Amino acid sequence: MPKFYVTTPIFYMNGKPHLGHAYAVTIADVLARWHRLKGDDTFFLTGTDEHGEKVEKKAIEEGLSPQEHVDRLSENFRQAWKKLNISNSDFIRTTEKRHEDAVKHFVKLMHDNGDIYEGVYEGWYCTPDETFIPESQLIDGKCPECGREVKKLKEATYYFRLSRYQDKLLEYYSENPDFILPRKRTSEIVNRIKEGLKDLSMTRPSVRWGIQFPFNEKHTVYVWVDALINYLSALGWPGSEPKYWPADVHLVGKDIMWFHSVIWPAMLMSAGFKPPKSVLVHGHYIVEGKKMSKSLGNVTDPLELTDKYSVDALRYFFVREFPLGDDGDFSEQLLKARNNNELASDLGNLIYRVLTLTEKFEGKLEGRPELEKSLELQTFQDEMDRCDTYRALETLWRFIKASNKYINDTKPWELKGEELSNALYNSVEACRIISILISPFMPETAEKIGKQLGIPLGRLEDCRFSEINYLPKKGAPLFTRVD
Ligand code: MSP
Repeated sequence: MPKFYVTTPIFYMNGKPHLGHAYAVTIADVLARWHRLKGDDTFFLTGTDEHGEKVEKKAIEEGLSPQEHVDRLSENFRQAWKKLNISNSDFIRTTEKRHEDAVKHFVKLMHDNGDIYEGVYEGWYCTPDETFIPESQLIDGKCPECGREVKKLKEATYYFRLSRYQDKLLEYYSENPDFILPRKRTSEIVNRIKEGLKDLSMTRPSVRWGIQFPFNEKHTVYVWVDALINYLSALGWPGSEPKYWPADVHLVGKDIMWFHSVIWPAMLMSAGFKPPKSVLVHGHYIVEGKKMSKSLGNVTDPLELTDKYSVDALRYFFVREFPLGDDGDFSEQLLKARNNNELASDLGNLIYRVLTLTEKFEGKLEGRPELEKSLELQTFQDEMDRCDTYRALETLWRFIKASNKYINDTKPWELKGEELSNALYNSVEACRIISILISPFMPETAEKIGKQLGIPLGRLEDCRFSEINYLPKKGAPLFTRVD
């Protein structure tokens, strides 16, 4: 059985989950559900990133111990993902013992390979982003990524010989052109590497809230080195072989692409592991030209939106509004339009209409599979396998529209006998197939359609027009319009 391992970034503990976080987790969930539908042995990981200077500072401000602070915040994420119907296989926290053991072991392997040496770091540090920044990259003396204040550091450290992996990384990208997706992002990384890779400071002597560095107890492991290893520690390594490794897809935002496509593969090569198969890079939610982020105070709470619309409306919006690699806007107006026009009208009406017509029909639903030619199943599958969830949903929507058009054209309300049975057979089978293909995106809606059709949710191989041996019964409309 093919396996599929997909991950999200593990989220920093500095507040509640916001729309950007929910977006990433939902896309990963769609991919995981798709691979389960195909019958792949799927593992889907998310979790929380709980160490580092920022967390330590924040806990002190709140009058809590760092552990109490992260316990509280991590639980918010776990609950939020439950509400959004996220089907993660595990939830890793970097303060867990299993993770600490894995980090220490991993660092030892890097050390055994001669890749760690002692030195001094003198330069800049962005605490909110937990990143070391070379002076040449500062913009107006501020962090080039988030625009916030940076501080000068001069401290003892242990370095990871990242520079040693420059050629190996370039070779890996050229042999695996789909390593960074969308592909167009690869050149950005390649050009930066060609400017010369510098060794990475990988321990901090001044930070207590972290995992102790195994070769000097006065240091903790740099939070990013610690965090990246979560992708292995959650697989039970080093206690057992990491059966799902290498990861098939690390889904990440563009701001952390460097860590995932350069530092992480180099760390893996150093410790004797294969690099991940792909790093899928998504864009950001932008509000009035600025990235939506807690520190800018322009965040939207995803859970509030699901109270007003529905979980599935938000999930649908995430995939449908803009292509995966692009930045996108969020406004309630946009969400409302998608909910009313596409969910309530296109999809909701289709199911309601078909089942209303079918309810009045007595006899066996049978006919010629006329509508099947509008189902672009292979295209849909290829798009999903390429992680192009945006295009795949577009492809599926063409079938939903074609089904609505079929009903308008055949006018079952004017038909009788065999012709009526044929029109209904096609419409009902279309609804059944739609319920299967929509399930990675809107699992609850898929269930609801299945219930109305009187059939458990099928698998991918059931997406063919076949004999009807179920008894549809109309239920409540699937979506409510919001005005
Ligand atoms: N803790 C690190 C990740 C470690 S992974 C080994 C981290 N955490 S984060 O909470 O700051 O960000 C997590 C993810 O959320 C990133 O991929 C980031 O791109 C994403 N987003 C943060 N703001 C976002 C938007 N406004 N829009 C979309 N995604 C956003 O980085």
